[in-house]
This record gives sequence, structure tokens and C-alpha cells, in this order.
Amino acid sequence: MNSDPEIFRFSIFSKLTLMNVSELEIRRACEAPTDALSFASRSNIRSAQPELSVEEILTEIQRAADLPLEESTTLPAQAYTSPDFFDWEVENIFRKEWLALCHVSQIPNVGDFLNIDLLGEPLIVIRDKSNEIQVLSRVCPHRGMDIMPPGFGYDGHCPAQAKEGQSNCGNTRLLLCPYHSWTFELDGKVKACAEMQEAKGFNRDEWGLKTFRSEIWNGFVFINFSEDAPQSVAEQYEGLGKHLEPWNLGDMELVFAQEWDCAFNWKVLTENFMESYHHAGAHSKTLQPMMPARDTWTEAEKAHYIQCHLPMKPKVREEIADMESRGEQWDVFPPIPGVSGEKRFEWGLILGYPGFKFVVTADAAIWYRTQPLGPNRIKLLTTMLVPKSTVQHPDFDSMLEKGSKMAVDFHLEDMEVCMAVQRGYYSSGYQRGRLSHLEMPIWLIQRYLAARSRGTWPTMDRPAAPGQR
Ligand code: FES
Ligand SMILES: [Fe+2]
Repeated sequence: MNSDPEIFRFSIFSKLTLMNVSELEIRRACEAPTDALSFASRSNIRSAQPELSVEEILTEIQRAADLPLEESTTLPAQAYTSPDFFDWEVENIFRKEWLALCHVSQIPNVGDFLNIDLLGEPLIVIRDKSNEIQVLSRVCPHRGMDIMPPGFGYDGHCPAQAKEGQSNCGNTRLLLCPYHSWTFELDGKVKACAEMQEAKGFNRDEWGLKTFRSEIWNGFVFINFSEDAPQSVAEQYEGLGKHLEPWNLGDMELVFAQEWDCAFNWKVLTENFMESYHHAGAHSKTLQPMMPARDTWTEAEKAHYIQCHLPMKPKVREEIADMESRGEQWDVFPPIPGVSGEKRFEWGLILGYPGFKFVVTADAAIWYRTQPLGPNRIKLLTTMLVPKSTVQHPDFDSMLEKGSKMAVDFHLEDMEVCMAVQRGYYSSGYQRGRLSHLEMPIWLIQRYLAARSRGTWPTMDRPAAPGQR
């Protein structure tokens, strides 16, 4: 196993902790942990944990998944550090499941595009001339060039105009491969390819950019790399779709996005995102006073997603009701009119397996997009969405400043613990821990992984686990 424990021995986080640095420095470190990663390439120190084969890791996951919740444990560290196991996950999970790429509000006009590299696939999500959203490969069918490598082509060399300050999205009339100037329509069909008349049997209609299977669900554009995925996103997330109706997500606008380079495994982030037991520790000053860990709960097991509820404590509910009775606004943004009853007084936490991480609150939605890059690395985009009416509000700019600061502040608390957890997985000190009932989502994720290793999904070949409350 060529794991990179040195990343974590010398991680920026540990250096920062020793230096007792400011929030700003932690923030910089989280945004660019490449310094820490460069240590890895100069290091020959291996993980102190014994090497396990993919089969051995899967056996341990299946054993853990079959324990009752009250007996549940954490997984072996190698599930988070083994490059071979990461390859297994890419092949058997990420390349077979629906993955969210962007929200429709990010590409509202014909010709708007957004580039994203996912699992080594250079992709372009683009709104074509018939106003349909296409997910295309950026790999040129002529000689294989990525037609829009990062930062390339925004110098007048190609028709694409980059969005201000960004290198991976913008607007274009057509797609141009800069190598031999083949051009493509916005739906990927070949528009022009000069000097191909002598290529015998060549028919340009057969040589467009590859189109991937995609679907828009609640305003989110999903891709599935597998042609044989048995269900649509809408079928898989049917129950979730009903729950989310009051937010009218398809009509929201993505108003904030920040990219993070994370030196930890995708499951470290996913588990952290879904269990709220850590409000009591990592968020003791931010989320815990509002939504105490002890009151958070998880719904009964579902095949394709996990749903958790983070109720606000009675004192906060009273405060909200008081303020609203005086016509004042408690939330950062105006509360969304249809979000009522219990939904008004809780955060709803969702994981659409494997990667759709989502929070709904009374006034906004938070979406985390992840691009797994290796056993100890992901690219993460944290975003915030609000209704269009909120964007029209005269005080929207100051609301957004406040809302995005809050989101970044509590995300920084998560970044710290996630980096430190991954460091633990390389150490001889790591032992398989026991889980609290409040960590039911972690056990559900184990059951998801185990089900995928059997070629199925949770609840399909085992009884569904009851909810925890
Ligand atoms: S590789 Fe794209 S035109 Fe030749
Ligand atoms: Fe957290």
C-alpha cells in the first residue's frame, strides 16, 4: 500500500495547531493543503496499519454492517487509506451511481457551460440551443484532446468567454477543439472538421462529443457513468422529493460557492456531514447551542438515501416565534413561505448515496459537491441556495455576506476534525471504535457499502433498520 501518512504527520493542521494560529491561517491551509501533500511525495514512510486486501476490507465492512446498531463499530482504517480499496469504490460505487454536478441556476442561459473533472473524466455541462442541459465529455473524438483544459482558451483563441474571475465556467456559441480546430454544436454534434474529405467512410455525424446519461432532479444536474443503472434519480429519491417540495429547489439560485482541497477520504467527510453527535464537540459554540446533538435523529433505513433531523431546542423555537410575532426576521434570509410545521424549526440533513450531501433550513439550502481524487484527497465545493425572491430582496448582499460567513465558519470546524481524523487512520494508535446511537448514519453508510459489495442496495436483501429517535 503506497499510502501517504507523512501528509498527516506533517499536516498543515498539526503545524497550525502547534503554532496556535489564527482562523485565517487555518482557512488558507484548508483551501490549499497542497503544501502538506507535497510532503507526501518526498516521504517513504508507510502507514503503521497492516496492509489489507480489498477482499479483507470488504469482509470487515460486511461484518460491521451486519451488527445491530447498539453493537456497531467504526471500520478498519484501511477502508479510508487503501488506494486499492479506493479504486474498488470508484468502480463499484461512483461509476455506477447518480452523481450531482451542478444546479441549473449555474447555467441559466443558452451557451452557459460549467466544466468539471470527475473520476478522471473531463466533463462539460452545457445548456444547448434548445435550452436542454447536456453532459458531454470534453475529450475530442479526433485525437483525444481535452477541448477545454483548465484555464485554456479564454484568450481570444476560442469562442468561450469565461465568467469573471473563474476559469471553469462561462458562455460560448460553439465548442472548439484547439488542437486541429474541429468545432462542435452545443449539444456535442460535429459542426465542422476541415480536410477530412479523404478519410474513407468518415461520416461526421458519427463523431460528436460523447454524451453521458444525465437527469435533472429538483434543479440538480446528475450524471451516471453507467448505462445500466436500473433506476432514475427521481425513482431513487422519490420520498426525498416529496419532503423537499416546500423548498422548490428547482427554482432556487445558487448564490455562494467555495472550493476546498481536502486531505481526507470521501467517507470521512460524508460521515462527518451526516452525524450530528459532533455538535457537542466540534460545533460546541456554533451549532450545539441551537441544535443539541442529543435531540438529533435519523429516519428508518432507505435504499438510496439517509435522512436526519436536527430539531432546534425549545428556547430557540420560542425566540423565533416571538420575533416573528413582532414582524422581525430571526433567520439570515427571509423564511421560505411553504416551509412550515416541524420543518420550520429544524435543519434537515440528507445524504443521497453516495455523494449528494444536502441541508435544508427554513431560509436556504446548503449543497456540498465532492470530487473524490484518491484515498486521502477530495475536491469539495460548498454552496448555498436561496429562492429567487430572496435574491431580489433589497438587503440581499448583506444577508449573503452574513449567511456565507456562518456557513464557512462551521465548515472550518468540520475541516479541522476531518483532517485530524484522516491523520489518525495512518497511525498504529488507531483502533476500531464504538458508535453512539446518535451516529446511526455512519452505520447506515457501512450498510450501504456492504450492500453495494453484494451488488444491491440497503433494504433490498436485508430488512430495513428502524429509525432512531
Ligand atoms: S484532437 Fe481535437 S481537433 Fe484534433
Ligand atoms: Fe459538522
